[in-house]
Amino acid sequence: MIAPANRPIGVFDSGVGGLTVVRALMERLPMENIVYFGDTARVPYGVKSRATIEHFTAQIVDFLLGHEVKALVVACNTIAAVAGHKVRHSAGGMPVLDVIAAGAQAALAQSRNHHIGVIATSTTVNANAYARAIHAQNPQARIVSQACPLLVPLVEEGWLDHDVTRLTVREYLKPLLADPIDTLVLGCTHYPLLKPLLKQEAPHITLVDSATTTAEAAARALGAAGLLNSDNPAPDYRFYVSDIPLRFQTIGERFLGRSLEQIEMMSLG
Ligand code: DGL
Repeated sequence: MIAPANRPIGVFDSGVGGLTVVRALMERLPMENIVYFGDTARVPYGVKSRATIEHFTAQIVDFLLGHEVKALVVACNTIAAVAGHKVRHSAGGMPVLDVIAAGAQAALAQSRNHHIGVIATSTTVNANAYARAIHAQNPQARIVSQACPLLVPLVEEGWLDHDVTRLTVREYLKPLLADPIDTLVLGCTHYPLLKPLLKQEAPHITLVDSATTTAEAAARALGAAGLLNSDNPAPDYRFYVSDIPLRFQTIGERFLGRSLEQIEMMSLG
């Protein structure tokens, strides 16, 4: 029987993008064991229907619960947007953190004029998820959202500082910058990699990176539940994916910021 604090944190995403959240968790909580599932066989989720995403999510959550995780981190904005409530229901009482709840809270804390921009996948924007999460805390806040479907493939291509990406970002930001937003939420796992470019294109706007804010929220939730692992200098990291596509290693390491070992394939459903 493993002591509750020594159990791993379960982190999941539609693919490799959630490794930006794993990276932030490794930095903020260096003693925690982590088990990650990325649904690389069925990515992208950002253009799929709610019913399909809910179905896939239930399979992933079952898989992670089978690993005796002590908490779940929904690293995918799209999953959090449409299936976050289902994850909480299946998890029973264990802490469940998600990028949208954490990002919404951080955006409100950082914005001075409470005029906030959100960029995300089409499904996340259509679900109005960030606006709902922000309005639940501050009904006066003004939110403008923009779906940026081209950014996921550009980031996966590694075009982080490329003219094509710069022009695409400029086009997507136009309607947002026409509003007096002072804060921009990066509402997709892939966008933290575009921070340098976004800073150049929107120099006066505060960027909210859901990965770091989620890691912070995870630290608080585990602390409050008495589940922090405080004596584990050599943590165990396991990465499960439903497919190992071409260039997986290169792309994954770019998101994780370090070498990606212990990858296992696991098909669900
Ligand atoms: N992980 C997704 C998100 O954060 C982006 C990739 C996808 O569309 O599945 O919204």
